[in-house]
Amino acid sequence: MRVAALASADDFDGWRDAARRLIAERVPPHDVVWQVGDLPTDLFGDEAITADPAPFRVPRAFIDLARTAILHAAPERFALLYAMLVRLVAEPRLIDDRADPAMRRLEEMAKAVRRDIHKMRAFLRFREIADDTGPRFVAWFEPEHHIVRRNARFFVDRFAVMHWSILTPELSLHWDGKALAEGPGATRADAPDGDPVEEVWKTYYASIFNPARLKKGAMLKEMPRKYWKNMPETALVPALIAGAQAREAAMIETARTAPQGNVLPAWEALRDEATACTRCPLWKPATQTVFGEGPVDAELMIVGEQPGDQEDLAGHPFVGPAGQLFDRAMAAAGLDRSRVYLTNAVKHFKFEARGKRRIHAKPGVGEIDACRWWIEQERAIVRPKMTIAMGATAARSLTGKAVTIGRERSRPITLADGGTGWITVHPSYLLRLPDPAAAEIEFGKFVEDLRSAAAAV
Ligand code: URA
Repeated sequence: MRVAALASADDFDGWRDAARRLIAERVPPHDVVWQVGDLPTDLFGDEAITADPAPFRVPRAFIDLARTAILHAAPERFALLYAMLVRLVAEPRLIDDRADPAMRRLEEMAKAVRRDIHKMRAFLRFREIADDTGPRFVAWFEPEHHIVRRNARFFVDRFAVMHWSILTPELSLHWDGKALAEGPGATRADAPDGDPVEEVWKTYYASIFNPARLKKGAMLKEMPRKYWKNMPETALVPALIAGAQAREAAMIETARTAPQGNVLPAWEALRDEATACTRCPLWKPATQTVFGEGPVDAELMIVGEQPGDQEDLAGHPFVGPAGQLFDRAMAAAGLDRSRVYLTNAVKHFKFEARGKRRIHAKPGVGEIDACRWWIEQERAIVRPKMTIAMGATAARSLTGKAVTIGRERSRPITLADGGTGWITVHPSYLLRLPDPAAAEIEFGKFVEDLRSAAAAV
């Protein structure tokens, strides 16, 4: 039995060095015990790991995956990663096998870690205390995984001029404006409670509060109960709800009439927020959120249904077979894809697993409605002159009701936010037509729709 000792629960470099040596010695995964810290090693007769690491290659994507999955709280993560590494050295293509249970487990672990990283960034709150050296800010946070060190750089960059401490059960971080220091874990009692900083957060929060979130209870979903006690702004919720209707009307009006400033930071923040979306259960099996893409000042927005298998893996909309047909139609209509804002009504891939294959499944009304929050925000930021809905899902998302494409297509319609919409078929519909002659005619109509909608603005 070999013992691979790691310096800490998030010691990726230690794991990588040990794994290299173990592979050089051809040690099978079941002969390795991974341990963190100074636990007694003689339990296992401690055969030291001595071999010089021999060079070998594994896909870059695995290293990225391992760097994140290793931060998961599950004690078996080191062993799982080593077992996967051994298999990948022999069979590098395994990295793309979405049906492999071990790969899937590691992907899920990495996803949970990314989510936790995002939560710490979104939900951590500093409280102000004064000591001899001046104002100091202290925050208490309880992560689910070993993400505190991974997030340290984010907080240093974001709060560079403040002197702050972040206390967590595992370790504490201290920043004095120049250097980052680490200390031992702490308890909630070590962090101060309410103080003046809360007023700042409350003002900030009230100013960004978006009433559209309220409708779907989405804010409560995004802000898990666990974090409420850390968050002064939750005290504001009843008052915010009371004013929500009026603010929503004002928000839509502003979006319609205000001059367009630099909206790129708002769009980037929205896209980043969407990476951690859990508004409906589709996020769980999907690889990632596939957000909209294109110029944030585009005059034309085009909306599809949901990412497909290839989009889910690539993280970009319309890159698979439907995307290729869409590209051909755009070219035939004389339109430039790079000047269009292209997005989907639903931002996660919905599928049924059949063996190794993932078969597209149509999103339900609940999923479309849950995802409308994102497209409403995208529309409020981009403010396109024309929005084309391709297919029934996109049409439902934009109009809020069931739409019969054949009846409603090929003419301008007015959308609830005052924008102009245009309904047409989805490219996948054209791909499914069995008769080539009929497919050709339908393709021509689709091209004409794209051309006419663009010309209408
Ligand atoms: N179909 C869609 O509706 N969107 C995509 O991004 C890909 C296929």
